Amino acid sequence: MERKKIIAGNWKMHKTEPETIEFIKKLAPEIVSCKPSVYIAVPFTSLHVAKKASEKTNVIIGAQNMHFEEKGAFTGEISAVMLKTAGAEFVLLGHSERRHVFHESDDMIAKKMVRALLDDLQPILCVGETEEERESGKTEKVLLQQLQTGLKKISEKEMEKVIVAYEPVWAIGTGKTATPEMAQKAHCFIRKSLKEMFAKTADFVPILYGGSVKPENSKELMSQKDIDGALIGGASLKPESFAAIINQC
Ligand code: PGA
Repeated sequence: MERKKIIAGNWKMHKTEPETIEFIKKLAPEIVSCKPSVYIAVPFTSLHVAKKASEKTNVIIGAQNMHFEEKGAFTGEISAVMLKTAGAEFVLLGHSERRHVFHESDDMIAKKMVRALLDDLQPILCVGETEEERESGKTEKVLLQQLQTGLKKISEKEMEKVIVAYEPVWAIGTGKTATPEMAQKAHCFIRKSLKEMFAKTADFVPILYGGSVKPENSKELMSQKDIDGALIGGASLKPESFAAIINQC
């Protein structure tokens, strides 16, 4: 079995409903490569229109976060079932902005992983070290902790649906990209750690790289052995640059 190639966009807090429709209309005809699966994590308010606009395309729509409870008194939060009903097929969990700006813990993320799978959303678990952690030689320790805790409640069978994204915090939105060698080293470590936890499925888990990916650097990054695609913020906001990355994959 070959590992799936995935190019995923993460729009963060960008794009209204009309802008979402316009983007998908422009993107669809630009995609000439049918090799990678194309995912876009849109804002909650755009889920419904994004799903509708992408109906006759290969674009898969998802969300950027969710709560781990099924329902309840959690003002301002959103459940997995709500996302699914609005058109999401996947959800980003543990993105570095959720961890660092909104103080989400590995335990919270572990609960979200369980809930997403229970309610049939494909989770993309994001992991990655800060600059300080890298400089003090703690990259592997941090990645292992995030993986072990984030995936502690997941069975080998459930793991078949999980995607992992390696996003070094220092490379997100900064223009600083990990070199292909640095990224490959981290991906290889992630794969090895997954193998210790999920002996049968680890080889088939797509591991995406994220952090200032753009058309100029995506080809080299994607050609590394353990890099199965990309999670893209800034460059996913323009149909031209997002399509260029997809078509190079
Ligand atoms: P960036 O964001 O491509 O703008 O660095 C990546 C991400 O946050 O997923």
